[in-house]
Amino acid sequence: MRPATVSRQFLLLLTIAFSLVVAFAVRLTYQFARYSAEGARLTNNLQNTFALNQELRQGINDQINLLHRQFEEPDPLFPDKFSAINYNLGERQTQYLKLNIGERERFTVEKIKSLHSELGVQSIQIFQQLQLGNRSQALSRINRVEELGNQIDKEFAALNELQTRKLQEVLEQLNRSVSIGYTVIYGFASSLVLTLIAFTLLLRKRVLQPLRSILDATDQIRQGNFSTRIPVSRLDEIGRLAKGFNFMADSLAESYAGLERKVEERTQQLRELQQQLVQAARMSAVRQLVSGVAHELNNPLTVIMGFAELRKMELVAGKADPKEIKLMNDIHSHADRCRRIVANLLQFARQKEPHLEAVSINEVIESVLQLREHELETKNIRLVRRYDATNPVICADLYKIQQVMLNLLNNAYDAIQEAGRPGTIQVRTVSQRERVIIEFLDNGTGIREPERIFDPFYTTKEVGKGTGLGLSVCYGIVQEHNGEIRAENTGKGARFVITLPVGNPEMLQRQPGADPQSRTTKQARQKRQALIVDDEETIVRLQISFLSTMGITATGVASGDEAVRFLQEHPVDIIISDVRMPGTVDGIHLYNWVRNNRPQLLKRFLFVSGDLVGMNTGQFFLQSSVPRIQKPFKFDDYSRIVRQVLEN
Ligand SMILES: Nc1ncnc2c1ncn2[C@@H]1O[C@H](COP(=O)(O)OP(=O)(O)OP(=O)(O)O)[C@@H](O)[C@H]1O
Ligand SMILES: [Mg+2]
Repeated sequence: MRPATVSRQFLLLLTIAFSLVVAFAVRLTYQFARYSAEGARLTNNLQNTFALNQELRQGINDQINLLHRQFEEPDPLFPDKFSAINYNLGERQTQYLKLNIGERERFTVEKIKSLHSELGVQSIQIFQQLQLGNRSQALSRINRVEELGNQIDKEFAALNELQTRKLQEVLEQLNRSVSIGYTVIYGFASSLVLTLIAFTLLLRKRVLQPLRSILDATDQIRQGNFSTRIPVSRLDEIGRLAKGFNFMADSLAESYAGLERKVEERTQQLRELQQQLVQAARMSAVRQLVSGVAHELNNPLTVIMGFAELRKMELVAGKADPKEIKLMNDIHSHADRCRRIVANLLQFARQKEPHLEAVSINEVIESVLQLREHELETKNIRLVRRYDATNPVICADLYKIQQVMLNLLNNAYDAIQEAGRPGTIQVRTVSQRERVIIEFLDNGTGIREPERIFDPFYTTKEVGKGTGLGLSVCYGIVQEHNGEIRAENTGKGARFVITLPVGNPEMLQRQPGADPQSRTTKQARQKRQALIVDDEETIVRLQISFLSTMGITATGVASGDEAVRFLQEHPVDIIISDVRMPGTVDGIHLYNWVRNNRPQLLKRFLFVSGDLVGMNTGQFFLQSSVPRIQKPFKFDDYSRIVRQVLEN
């Protein structure tokens, strides 16, 4: 069934009003027509009867007058004249009776007719007696004629009265119909007024009031009160309008909330971006400083470590006093600690392109966790793994990502140790379309100054335990991978969240060069000749000593120019050169000279460098595969690489 809509209700009301108007109008017209027709018919009838009445009365008077004249002057043509009037009167009487008259009128006319015929008989007898000269008998009869004349007059008067009464009735009927007409008009007018009032009330109740509440609700929405709703109790247009309004208010509230959420999100993103920018600017400044300092420290450290190691080997070989050996060992191990610090600094300062390959995030984390799992267990620290089941793979530098994970794990471990309670470290990975999220959650001390932890050298750990560079390095690595790292306190500890892009698979590449594990470890058996190029005299001496323990004769020069001169005159098996040197020929120039003039020696070129951060050198090493060793170096590493180069 269709709902009773407002338009249908109004249509119904209008139809009722219109039908009433039409019914009243028809009724009125019919009434007036009926009574006016009746009136016209009666008036016409009355006119005819009055006229006939007049003529009859006149004819009878004429006959009586004719009879009276017979007494004074007898007329022989009296019977003809009397008959002629009589004939005429008879015609009229017949006509009269044919009219549409009532019973009483008919009866009166019939009575007049009989009185008139008696009057006619008496008149003829009077004429005959006058003809016979019997005047007295005629006179006695004339009285009877007078009597008949009077009776006829009376009857005519009665007839008149009847007709007058009829006329009055017609007039009364007309009056009545006029008053009925008035009643009909009043009735019509009042029903029209009532209909209009009902129409107005209905309009007010069914349309205007609901519209007003919708307008009020619209005002509320305009003022930001999105919870405003209109009660829906009807199924008509107004009900549907209210329903539509509520639906619109729902959508508005939803989109407004969404908009607010988005604004908050964007503001948060902007804040984070600003923090990242500030952090990046700080990093860049610190990197410059660190790079310079580290470079300067490398050479003295190399010398200290190298000679300490050499001396220790000599002391061990000469079975010297163990105290002296221990002393040398201490010098070496502390210098090694310094080397690690400098290496960390350089790691932090270095911004070379990451070496990208397909890295399984779950596997990287697992390898790091396994590295320290046993130790964590002994310290009552539980590891909880919640890896993403899809085993997400990203395009990244495996070694660097490992380093980030290890730093985070170490920090969590330290924080739990400091808190001094049984701990839990929870590691979670989540794959999200174009990115992977890694979360480290611990129940340690919590972060003391979250806004400072990524600053280089910021540490709360005791002297000698932390450099304050771990998270700075993590920050740099994550940035290199176009990712994000953030930290927060959970109330029970700290949470670190790293977001890394999955990356472009086309970027995947493998480090050029052969796998070092597959190399043979066959030592060069012949006495070899080496050329050492370094502007630091102590470094040259250290290397000559190292090489001599390996059975290699070495010559040292202090610059690239000297090296070129030497090479023009002497054959060598290996060239070990610094990168940055004073003069016109630095390490890279020397390498290029060898390529052009001694190409057979190109594979026997080894760089020893304190820092590869410099623009040109960094680029050079990225593009070429020349072997290199980083200062400060340990004897083991040095000798291994020298042997590898000599095998080329
Ligand atoms: N999980 C953690 N819980 C509480 N504090 C932390 C956590 N991780 C880092 N921190 C705080 O941030 C500081 C900086 O950490 P960062 O790793 O950079 O340096 P470090 O650990 O002190 O030293 P390094 O890593 O060089 O050995 C820490 O000293 C510590 O105060
Ligand atoms: Mg750390």
